[in-house]
Amino acid sequence: MTSTAAVADQRSRTLGVLRLSLTARCNLDCSYCRPDAADPPDLMTLDQQLRLIRVAVALGAHTLRLTGGEPLLSDRLLPLLEAVSQGRRTAGDPLTGLRHVALTSNGVLLTPDRARLLRAAGLDRITISLDAVDGAVAARMAGLRGGQSAGERLVRKVIDGVMSAKLAGFDAEKGEIKLNAVIKRGENDHQLLPLAALARRHRLELRLIEYMDVGSRNGWVQDQVLPAAEMVRRIQARWPLDALGRDSGATANRWRYRDDRGGLGVIASISEPFCGDCNRLRITADGQAFTCLFASEGFDLKPVLNNAAALQQRIAGLWIHRSDHYSEDRHRHVPRPSHAEMAYLGG
Ligand code: GTP
Ligand code: 5AD
Ligand code: SF4
Repeated sequence: MTSTAAVADQRSRTLGVLRLSLTARCNLDCSYCRPDAADPPDLMTLDQQLRLIRVAVALGAHTLRLTGGEPLLSDRLLPLLEAVSQGRRTAGDPLTGLRHVALTSNGVLLTPDRARLLRAAGLDRITISLDAVDGAVAARMAGLRGGQSAGERLVRKVIDGVMSAKLAGFDAEKGEIKLNAVIKRGENDHQLLPLAALARRHRLELRLIEYMDVGSRNGWVQDQVLPAAEMVRRIQARWPLDALGRDSGATANRWRYRDDRGGLGVIASISEPFCGDCNRLRITADGQAFTCLFASEGFDLKPVLNNAAALQQRIAGLWIHRSDHYSEDRHRHVPRPSHAEMAYLGG
């Protein structure tokens, strides 16, 4: 594998983050996501995943984010983390170039044991999803059939997951635990303040995410999008905030509370797209590469997954030719094109 400088695409964007999905399956059925019940055939092997990560780092990636579906459902997660961690500690290994290894999870399976194992295996940061504090609303958002009591159990488990992560040594105040909430107008927007209060209590950064038109199953309509500016206005009216802005390549526009309890980020893909400095490459669990979250089809890496040089050439070529910026000109795509599903893509 040749080490190269970061590759730049047709819009001068460099590769920075590899989002690697471990499974398309999930133990929830969120209304905005609607995952598949089964994985595609031929998931990547551990060797193939490692080769891919090394190639991405050689091409400029500094962050690995493991996603799903729900990555805690995958028995590939721990062996992969352990192997990555070993590589990061080995002089001369391209993996020494990885600055952050992060995980996006719904938190349901984040028991104290699990959190401890993840930390010990070298995970640096974890982002946990929770869309409501109220049980009935949480159940509706997560597609649970058991109504309020099922939702209350879900909320409890996720909060316990946050506690487990803290006990395992993830430091919320250093941004090592974050809470993601997708906000749908008319469904859970009245949960903004309760979610912010919860995150503040645990000193977490809460990321409020505009409901996006990813996939083709969620029945997305613009009317259900609550613009990020309105989310911030409602929170600001209760707890004064100062703007921190959005780091280059980041998804979230960040704010700090004047009393410094936790933090706030808003991910405004609809009202304020951030395609201009998008640094993300997504790979599905079966080795399909997607540059844009809103693409219809990926590029099949399977034929080159066992050959580092060919894989590097393929990914470099893919990135160099990249010019997608769907969110910036979404209004021009009428009718909406078909999109690959969120849980398959890994968000
Ligand atoms: P940090 O490293 O903590 O900033 O993580 P992140 O925000 O990049 O990742 P996370 O998995 O927590 O995703 C948060 C939200 O941002 C999810 O709704 C993702 O689908 C969305 N997201 C991530 N990357 C992109 C992107 O390139 N475009 C758009 N439109 N949304 C994205
Ligand atoms: N719009 C916005 N965010 C979404 N997520 C899943 N589907 C959507 C959507 N349609 C979020 C999840 C998780 C992250 C990976 O993506 O809630 O936090
Ligand atoms: Fe599962 Fe995440 Fe999709 Fe919800 S958004 S169904 S937690 S993959």
